[in-house]
Amino acid sequence: MPVYNLKINGKPHTVEADQDTPLLWVLRDHLDMVGTKFGCGIGQCGACTVHVDGSATRSCLLQVGNVEDMEITTIEGISEDASHPVQLAWKEIDVPQCGYCQAGQIMSATAFLEQNANPSRSEIRDAMSGNICRCASYNRIEKAVELAASKKLS
Ligand code: FES
Ligand code: FES
Repeated sequence: MPVYNLKINGKPHTVEADQDTPLLWVLRDHLDMVGTKFGCGIGQCGACTVHVDGSATRSCLLQVGNVEDMEITTIEGISEDASHPVQLAWKEIDVPQCGYCQAGQIMSATAFLEQNANPSRSEIRDAMSGNICRCASYNRIEKAVELAASKKLS
C-alpha cells in the first residue's frame, strides 16, 4: 500500500493508505483525529470541513493521494486551548445543540473570517450556507460569526 507524508496542524504524519482514501477517513481512522465528522460523504453537509492551504474544504471529497505537501488544519489545530476568537464567540453565544455539525461550522467560519474580517450578516449567511445543521442553530451561528469578527477586530 502506498505511503503518504501529510502535514496536519503543523506536524508531519506518515500514513499508509490506498491512494483514493478520503482525507476524512485518514484523519479519523488512521490518525485518531475524530473532531472532523462524517455526515453525508458526498460534499453536501459540511460536517467534514477542514482547511487545506487555508481554504475551507470538504475532507470527504479529497483523496489522500492529492493532499501531500499541502497545509491541512483540522478543528484540533485551530487552537490548543479553545481560545480562537471563533471558539470563544461560539461559547459566548452558546451555539451548539447536539454539536455534531459544529466542528465543520467553526472551520468554515474561521476560514471565512480570514478572507473577510468585517462581514455583513448577509455575507455571513452566504458563507455559512454550505454547512447544514439539523438542529437549526443557524441564527446563533450567524451571531457568533459576527461576534468573532468583532473580537478579531478589537
Ligand atoms: S461528510 Fe463531507 S460534506 Fe458531508
Ligand atoms: S448542532 Fe446539531 S446538527 Fe448542528
